[in-house]
Formats: sequence, structure tokens, C-alpha cells
Amino acid sequence: MKQELENIRAEASKRIAEAQNRPELEALRVRYLGKKGDITAILKQMGKLSAEERPAMGQLANEVRSSIETLIAESGKKIKQLETQMRLEKETIDVTIPGTPHPVGHKHPLSIVLDEVKDIFFGMGFDIASGPEVEWDYYNFEALNIPKDHPARDTQDTFYITENMLLRTQTSPVQIRVMENQAPPIRIIAPGRVYRSDAVDATHSPIFHQIEGLVVDKGITMGNLKGCLETFAKALYGEDTRIRLRPHHFPFTEPSCEIDVSCFNCGGKGCPMCKGEGWIEILGGGMVHPKVLKNGGIDPEVYSGFAFGLGLERLVMFRFNIDDMRLLYENDTRFLNQF
Ligand code: DAH
Repeated sequence: MKQELENIRAEASKRIAEAQNRPELEALRVRYLGKKGDITAILKQMGKLSAEERPAMGQLANEVRSSIETLIAESGKKIKQLETQMRLEKETIDVTIPGTPHPVGHKHPLSIVLDEVKDIFFGMGFDIASGPEVEWDYYNFEALNIPKDHPARDTQDTFYITENMLLRTQTSPVQIRVMENQAPPIRIIAPGRVYRSDAVDATHSPIFHQIEGLVVDKGITMGNLKGCLETFAKALYGEDTRIRLRPHHFPFTEPSCEIDVSCFNCGGKGCPMCKGEGWIEILGGGMVHPKVLKNGGIDPEVYSGFAFGLGLERLVMFRFNIDDMRLLYENDTRFLNQF
């Protein structure tokens, strides 16, 4: 039995010295010191010994047990140190490794130009107005002097919610809503989304954006319209920009005009951008029709006004030389990152 105990001690100390990690060490503890372990097995045989042999053997067994306990404790400490060291080595931060880039977003080209336009009109004392995109036929057409049988409706087919409710085809209905709610002087722009039943191609989209303008006060003339839009064009395209008013027809203005700016690419000489014309059409406008003023609750004998409308997409496409409108809606970052 004594020999057995010595064998256990020798074997245990060798194995404990070899243990690499905590599970291995724990297995050894169970094997030698556990309830079903080697030492316990020996102690169970004590009964077979004579009364004289028992105390010496008991003492030896206890000695072997405590020496194994010490060895396990020491090895446990070493393993722990080793683990800590390994973990530290693994967790070392290499501060020279380049960081992970976090891309920062930016404004969409439509927003870039819209914000510029807003700033220019803010500078001239305009406020922002808005109206619903789901609009009554009355505001979108009727009140703007476009009755049910008017041919202007043909070019502005849209999506009808009911016979009298539709997706607005223009931002002009905001004119009526503003006049209904505000007494002159009125000076607003109304940017927003508009809808038409158009097939998608490089220059058409069923959803696009317009910016409406409306000024109503005593004594407003066509001269005010020209001055205002010339100031706008110069601010947007540079001091050398000139504008030109061409007679046109809109049901809600009288007289009406289309407004061209001298080509910002060639300065008016003629180039591919202006198709050799030297001029680029960017706005429609005119003096608010007396019927429209009346529909807005304003007396045309006392007040007059001018209005204008422009297409934001057109402005953006010219500005950034974009030849296909669809690019503005596809959210392709290869395109958007260029702005
Ligand atoms: N609403 C017109 C359109 O969609 C644009 C327009 C033209 C607006 C002349 C105006 C204006 O306010 O005076 O084609």
C-alpha cells in the first residue's frame, strides 16, 4: 500500500507538471483526489490493515493528498498566468492599422440645387409655402382657370383618386391655397413633388419636382417679374447671365411668358448644351389672371401679382450636365458620390 501511494505521488506530480490548461488540471484533480479517485480508493482499503499499520499509512495517505493538492494549486496559478499572457498577446491593439472608414452621406443633387434656389428667394424676402400632393381637382385645375373641358388638361393627365381628387400635376394649386389663407402682400415659393401620367424616359418621370413662385401686392407689374427672375438667374448662374421673356400661354396668367436664360455653358454663342440656341428655357410665368386672384379671394381691382413655375429636375440636369433624368431617382451611389 505504501508503494502504491508513492507510485500515485510520482505519477501525479509528473502529470500535473505536464498539464496545459484548466480542464486538463481539473481532470487530474478528480482522478487523484475525487470521491472516486485513487487516494480515496486507497483510504477505503485501510480497514484491511492491522491497527499498528493504520496510523502510519493514514499519515502517508494524507501527506500524499496534500502534496498533490499543493502541486495542483501551483500548476493552476501557472496556467492562469499563461492564459492571461496569451490573452494579452491576442488582444494587443496595433494602433498603426488604418481605421475602418465610415462613409458620410451628403445632399442629393436635387436637394443641393433646391437649397440654392431657396436661399436666393429667401434673400429677396420670400417665404416657403406648401400644399398637399393629393389635391382636389378644384385647386389643381378649376381655380387656376382650367375648366373640365380645357385642352390644357390633356397635357397634364394624372392619377385620379376619385373623380374630384387627384395627384397634383403642378405646384400651382398652392397659389390658390396661399391666397385663401393670407392677405397681400404675398411673396412665396412653393417647392414640391408633382405627378403626371408620363412614361419614364431620359427626360420624363411620372414623379418630378417643381418650384412655384407667387407675388401679390398693390401695383405689381411685369417689370417686377422680370427684375425678380433676372436677379434669380444671375444669383444661380453668375452675374453675366441675361434673361429673355418670350410670349406664351398659361391659363392662370395673363399675359404669360416663357423665360430663357443665356446659356451658362457658352455664354450665348451656341453650343451642344443649348442646342446652338444660346438660350435655355428654365421658367414659365406671367401676371396672375384676374380670375385666379378672385378665386383666391383677392380683389383684382386692388391687387395684382406675378407667378412663375420651374422644373427642378431640368435645373439640376443643366447644372451638373446630367443627360438622363432617371439617374436622379435610382439611388446608385456610383452616381450620387460624384456630387
Ligand atoms: N404650372 C405650370 C406647369 O406645370 C408652370 C407655371 C407656368 C407655373 C407659369 C406658373 C406660371 O406659376 O405662372 O407647366
